[in-house]
Amino acid sequence: MQIYDAIILGAGAAGLMAAATAGQRGRRVLVVDHAEAAGKKILISGGGRCNFTNIGTAPERFLSANPHFAKSALGRYTPADFLALVEAHGIAWHEKTLGQLFCDGSARQIVAMLLDECDKAARAGGAVEIALNTPVARVEHDGTAFRIASGARTATTPRLIVATGGPSIPKMGATGYAYDLARQFGLKVVEPRPALVPLTLGGEETLFRSLSGVASEVIARAGKTRFREAALFTHRGLSGPAILQVSSYWRHGEAIGIDFTPDAAADWLIAAKHAQPRQSPRRALGQHLPDRLAETLAERLALPPELGAATDKALTAAAARLSDWPFHPNGSEGYAKAEVTVGGVSTAGLSSRTMEARTVPGLHFVGEAVDVTGWLGGYNFQWAWASGRAAGEAV
Ligand code: FDA
Repeated sequence: MQIYDAIILGAGAAGLMAAATAGQRGRRVLVVDHAEAAGKKILISGGGRCNFTNIGTAPERFLSANPHFAKSALGRYTPADFLALVEAHGIAWHEKTLGQLFCDGSARQIVAMLLDECDKAARAGGAVEIALNTPVARVEHDGTAFRIASGARTATTPRLIVATGGPSIPKMGATGYAYDLARQFGLKVVEPRPALVPLTLGGEETLFRSLSGVASEVIARAGKTRFREAALFTHRGLSGPAILQVSSYWRHGEAIGIDFTPDAAADWLIAAKHAQPRQSPRRALGQHLPDRLAETLAERLALPPELGAATDKALTAAAARLSDWPFHPNGSEGYAKAEVTVGGVSTAGLSSRTMEARTVPGLHFVGEAVDVTGWLGGYNFQWAWASGRAAGEAV
């Protein structure tokens, strides 16, 4: 039986950050992961370049049943802190758009950096041991210590950090194991669902699938939440950053609205009629939209063949429809395609300062496992770093 100051389940973004933090505070840490390599999601993130943070990080850009929960950890470990680490490791980076920071080179550099930070534990008299290919069979708790069984190996610790992420992309080894553990210890789980995920269209709207490959800058809306970015029609429905963003807010049975003409005035079709009365609606739409999209939307608006023949009322109604076109997704592409999971271990049972369970001293949950989910664009890694850091400082 080996004894550690802390055991961390999951060698992903949050687990490695927690391990490095605890190790550099002189703790002897064991990190256990069933995967054959550490940080697999980091490696595939951001198209292989890892969008490692967002300089626009703010609590309002995270979804959680308790919108205040993330404030403490995010406030104590900021994008500037992570960027300082990246720069200290000589990793070149750039801002792509909307505050999103990426490696110039490869996401491998971020994983190498985190492993290097774990190795620095030795300088403080600590140690970080990473056990890969190690599925966890059982976690037991006798009131003071946690006992982890994995194959022939057993280890014990007074501090257990659960950093096994969420179930998005199961073929990479993602699981909902954190939820099982939370329930085992009497904690609540906010119903998880796939997020940052393409939405699917059916019924009448199947017709839009013929636009597969067409992209346009839009404002997509779910409820009152709006995102201005690109939307993409796919052979199954809708994707692109604007749709991925609203997917996190969308619920089955609800409609989403798309503003296809975000820069046009409310009376732009009337102005187009006065300027060129013989112009077809398709032509007018084509000044704002890709050709195939203009054609499809113009057909559905069913205006007269020339704008001059349409009443101002009809044109005002058409412009209004174009600025909040309703789509009724019949589902999403699910965990197989979801970048993250919304929901997770309820923050009601956790300390926002240490991520420790209020009713089970020594048990911490961090990263995507927790009911805190960021927008697209580096926010989820920032939460993984910040929450991992908060737990690593507490164990
Ligand atoms: P993470 O999933 O990183 O780590 C969990 C670890 O636990 C894994 O190593 C897994 O093998 C292990 N594990 C799971 N179950 C286990 C079990 N039962 N036993 C033992 N080990 C177990 N975010 C962002 O901010 N910028 C970006 O560019 C991207 N890009 C991106 C692309 C793609 C394709 C995906 C799928 C996701 C992203 N994300 C992202 C989201 C980001 O990857 C995610 O939010 C973080 O990796 C979450 O970090 P965690 O450490 O919580 O989980």
